[in-house]
Amino acid sequence: MGAMTTPASAAPEPFDAVDVIVTKRNKGDLSDGQIDWVIDAYTRGVVADEQMSSLAMAILLNGMTRREIARWTGAMIASGERMDFSSLSRPTADKHSTGGVGDMITLPLAPLVAACGVAVPQLSGRGLGHTGGTLDKLESIPGWRASVSNEQMLRQLEEVGAVICAAGAGLAPADKKLYALRDVTGTVEAIPLIASSIMSKKIAEGTGALVLDVKVGSGAFMKDVAQAQELARTMVALGTDAGVKTVAMLTNMQTPLGLTAGNALEVRQSVEVLAGGGPPDVVDLTLTLAREMLAAAGREEIDPADALADGRAMDVWHRMIQAQGGDSHALLPWARETHEVRAPGTGVLTQLDALKVGVAAWRLGAGRARKEDPVQAGAGVVMHAKPGAYVRAGDPLLTLHTDTPERFERALEALEGAWFIAPEGSRPDLLPLVIDRIS
Ligand code: URA
Repeated sequence: MGAMTTPASAAPEPFDAVDVIVTKRNKGDLSDGQIDWVIDAYTRGVVADEQMSSLAMAILLNGMTRREIARWTGAMIASGERMDFSSLSRPTADKHSTGGVGDMITLPLAPLVAACGVAVPQLSGRGLGHTGGTLDKLESIPGWRASVSNEQMLRQLEEVGAVICAAGAGLAPADKKLYALRDVTGTVEAIPLIASSIMSKKIAEGTGALVLDVKVGSGAFMKDVAQAQELARTMVALGTDAGVKTVAMLTNMQTPLGLTAGNALEVRQSVEVLAGGGPPDVVDLTLTLAREMLAAAGREEIDPADALADGRAMDVWHRMIQAQGGDSHALLPWARETHEVRAPGTGVLTQLDALKVGVAAWRLGAGRARKEDPVQAGAGVVMHAKPGAYVRAGDPLLTLHTDTPERFERALEALEGAWFIAPEGSRPDLLPLVIDRIS
């Protein structure tokens, strides 16, 4: 696709895309004017995809200053509408995870925080690649709709306290176009671009407080702690400068969260958490993030553990799902076929790799390779043991679920080397669930 030519009658463009690319290619700083123009001109189709992908690669290789990142974020916010929740009778807080395997925390967290008196406007996405998407998970509930108008969102926030929905087309349209381009040009993993992409949507969304869950480990974008700290600091600075009370938690994604990876499988586990059960790591992280959200919204005196224990969070869950057409009491879909993977030896499970489990779930049909692909509601992986557990040879380690059994072979290939069983008495060398907190 080529750049659009300027009609003779139109005003000339104030900058030239090639000059902007060359500035960054030569490790220079982009001016405020260049940044405002390139984002706006790309959204209008005047800067072509090949020019923007070249600029994104120059940014990935040469970085951006704090000023450039703030200006880039502001330009992406200005490309669309801004929402305003100031008319609500309660404060707002949102959570954003940078994405991981088995990360269904939003599902119990949003109703839990709402049950404690803070409204949660949670604009979520669909999964791409090995990380799952919150909307795909909720769509396994019969009748549930991801799309909600701005008016309905405000009403639901006032009446129920929590909304999990798709971001409307009007919110940061520059990011939508740029994110799709980065996805196919090897330019997703650039800290300035990830930080500005996430924060432009969160600031435009209009939340008063924001807790960022920055995942670290094989199943996350950020493979090491130092990189994750840099991303977290960049996002906290962007949020704080925009007047949003922002805190970031660095959390472990070496190993999947919880015991399931897959859409309906993760919804079932979320309901267990809301019913007072569920895997300990999921319960811990849900409560940790809920405490941070409540504190950021000025309600630190409330203990979310009470609302989980007495069923108030579960009540909000039912109302939140039903408000968007979902039958929260319906049976969730199960995959038609399963395959059990058994422990090859006896000892201590010291490793269960998040990326490999995520890729297996994806290949079983839980995720998509292209945006337009369908997902299987019941597909995924159930884990029977997590690192630290003692296992005996022949014990079930994982159960693979899919509607299409021809997928088992590729999923099993993905799992090669995913676990390690060490002799009895060994201690796994694991990162803690919460690695760091940046505010
Ligand atoms: N999530 C986003 O919204 N944007 C990114 O760039 C990466 C993850």
